[in-house]
Amino acid sequence: MIQTVQSGNQLSARDRRANDMEIVPLGAMLGAEIRGLDLTDKIDQGQSEALNAALMAQKVLVFRDQDITSDQHLAFGRMFGEVTIHPFVPHLPEMPEMLVLDNHQDNPVLSTDMWHSDETFREEPPMGSILRCREMPPVGGDTMWADMTAALGGLSDKMQGFLSGLEAIHDFKPFRRRFAGLPVKERHEKLAEFEERYPNPVHPVVTTHPVTGDKVLFINEQFTLAIKDMREDESRTLLDFLFTLPRIPEYQFRLSWEKNTIAFWDNRPTQHYAANDYFPQRRTMHRITIKGVRPN
Ligand SMILES: [Fe+2]
Repeated sequence: MIQTVQSGNQLSARDRRANDMEIVPLGAMLGAEIRGLDLTDKIDQGQSEALNAALMAQKVLVFRDQDITSDQHLAFGRMFGEVTIHPFVPHLPEMPEMLVLDNHQDNPVLSTDMWHSDETFREEPPMGSILRCREMPPVGGDTMWADMTAALGGLSDKMQGFLSGLEAIHDFKPFRRRFAGLPVKERHEKLAEFEERYPNPVHPVVTTHPVTGDKVLFINEQFTLAIKDMREDESRTLLDFLFTLPRIPEYQFRLSWEKNTIAFWDNRPTQHYAANDYFPQRRTMHRITIKGVRPN
């Protein structure tokens, strides 16, 4: 929630502007709409701090009817940290930071219809992503987020204690398919190059959120390969169980997009899933991704 140090007409100009914003919770566990903020205007320091506080509390922020330019989208992202470039997903030709997810008849969904946190194949996965809807089919194409602090808290104390000592190996596995059509030699060379750039990071299974201090269940179906130092069958059985947790509706928030809806999520305590129910229609999204720190 927005913190103000003064009240009523004693608000400073900065606090008043921040205070024009309204935070409307949308989900029981996570998700809120930010009203009263026009992202075509320059966002000031007080507003970005208020948004950051709202993001920590609500985990997913939704902004409606934001007809911003790509430059404004990028500048908005930069207010929250260093913006990164995705190594596998296409981007705007003139702006490598702007990831483009353009799915239609000739470009079916690759892997966004699996529960995941973004880019956990990195040593330092993103702190957040800012996704903007460019084109949406008349129905379908929703995104769901799950609160992985709530999912962890729903487990027994015994299970939480067991998980807290474990580590997991992550991999860019769904993107390996991108090289499948290449001649064998070229495919091996390309994969070797990316494996060198993104060697399998090991992240704790239970992380501590660097800002809120919340405990988070930090494994995901898209990028987690195995539990370290376990037998293959033990690891598989445990992961298969843990992968069911974000699917529990009570932990979720579901967003129906419209053109120029923006969602800004904290990537560390959440997972998300894009419903792949609109093929062969077109769904086009643009994303700016903000660098995070090594999970602990
Ligand atoms: Fe994603």
